Amino acid sequence: MIIKKVQDKNQGSQLAAELCIELSNLSPNKPVGLATGETMRGVYKQLSELGFEPNFKDAFALDEYLGIEKSNPKSYFFELTQIFSEQLGWRGRLHVPGQDDYSGDDGANQFEKSIQNLGPITVQLLGLGTNGHIAFNEPGSEFDSITRVVDLHEETRIANSRFFESIDDVPKQAMTQGLSTINQADALVLLVFGENKLEALKKALENPDEQTPLAAIKDHQHLTLITDLDV
Ligand code: GLP
Repeated sequence: MIIKKVQDKNQGSQLAAELCIELSNLSPNKPVGLATGETMRGVYKQLSELGFEPNFKDAFALDEYLGIEKSNPKSYFFELTQIFSEQLGWRGRLHVPGQDDYSGDDGANQFEKSIQNLGPITVQLLGLGTNGHIAFNEPGSEFDSITRVVDLHEETRIANSRFFESIDDVPKQAMTQGLSTINQADALVLLVFGENKLEALKKALENPDEQTPLAAIKDHQHLTLITDLDV
């Protein structure tokens, strides 16, 4: 793992944006892996400020809530479309677990197949949940897990309720890439900012087990951790 210690989130977001551009340009015909959440908004703002013009044909989202239409502004599909299609002018295909071809009983399998057919993903962006989750792989997820439907932990629903009107509006389930799926990307760029993530980060590095899903990817051969924390 390469650790890039930064002064603050702004500096870290800029570094991540530059790294993503560099890595995605290495194999322009291969897809990228996109994440959502507060942390990623800073990275996408930087991509926009750098005048990034995406040239990849396909992008795979990490995860998505279940039970939310893609036209709902709270959906990850909507958020990523706004940023990449509306703001950055991207004209490729966005693959989101649980949406379009990837909905229904066979949706998760179809999503895995698409990654296998179109991949490998050149660079996968990742954030970290306060409980150590990666995408929506909650504590207890198996390290060899693949794309599937999961129940969200209460801590995750509470943490993400800030994006909804109330906790009651936060879905109880999601579809997420598995830890094994994520590990198959050529490069991983993990962003962790803020003291509220320190405990999970330290636990994954110092005491790795399935209770901290981040531990599953910590030995990836091309992982860059960008953080303002002392680890
Ligand atoms: C969310 C997402 C993750 C994200 C993480 C951190 O629940 N499913 O993919 O990386 O939690 O989110 P944030 O950046 O808002 O702290």
